[in-house]
Amino acid sequence: MQFYLDTANLDEIREAASWGILSGVTTNPTLVAREKGADFKSVISEIAELVDGPISAEAVSLDGEGMVKEGLEFATWHPNVIVKVPSTTEGLKAVYQLARKGIRTNVTLIFNAAQALMAARAGAFIVSPFVGRVDDTGVDGMQLIREISQIYKSDSEITTKIISASIRHPRHIIDSALAGADIATCPFKVLQLAIRHPLTDRGIEQFLADWKSRS
Ligand code: G3P
Repeated sequence: MQFYLDTANLDEIREAASWGILSGVTTNPTLVAREKGADFKSVISEIAELVDGPISAEAVSLDGEGMVKEGLEFATWHPNVIVKVPSTTEGLKAVYQLARKGIRTNVTLIFNAAQALMAARAGAFIVSPFVGRVDDTGVDGMQLIREISQIYKSDSEITTKIISASIRHPRHIIDSALAGADIATCPFKVLQLAIRHPLTDRGIEQFLADWKSRS
């Protein structure tokens, strides 16, 4: 399973990229809006300079035609830009049209496996099931990843990748990998939490203390 960073913050992306684990970046309108005063095109272009992998930029139109128009523009910004569209009938139309033009899409806001299957059939490059938001409703979000993974694996025509999105804690990373996700897109904070363990810290302290005490 690969790691993407779920942020539009360039400092976070620069830092995580230096760890050697980043295969891509996902953004959404909320994450871009958090970077006050940032111009969307400039942010996406700068991210694409920092990370050599798929960079998702989300369309805000609600109609397929509008999404296609936005997507065609995003695609001129950098060859690694992936057009993110919502899982709606208009989103499916946009996926289908963009795929015919060779432009890759990420179908987002997926909350059931039927949505993921339809997105794949329309030609989506990636789907983004939101595990954390499903958990928030009291339902096991990881079951969604298991179902999509099983459905995709049973159909040799499907090459669509699964991004486990709305990741909230390190356990989500482990469970996503076990459930068959191709990618986990994580907030920077979750990546920081995932690498830390108190026994690692204590082990380092002990090693250093023993090293200093050698005669
Ligand atoms: O990748 C989707 C993600 O940004 C949504 O996360 O935490 O807002 O549910 P969250």
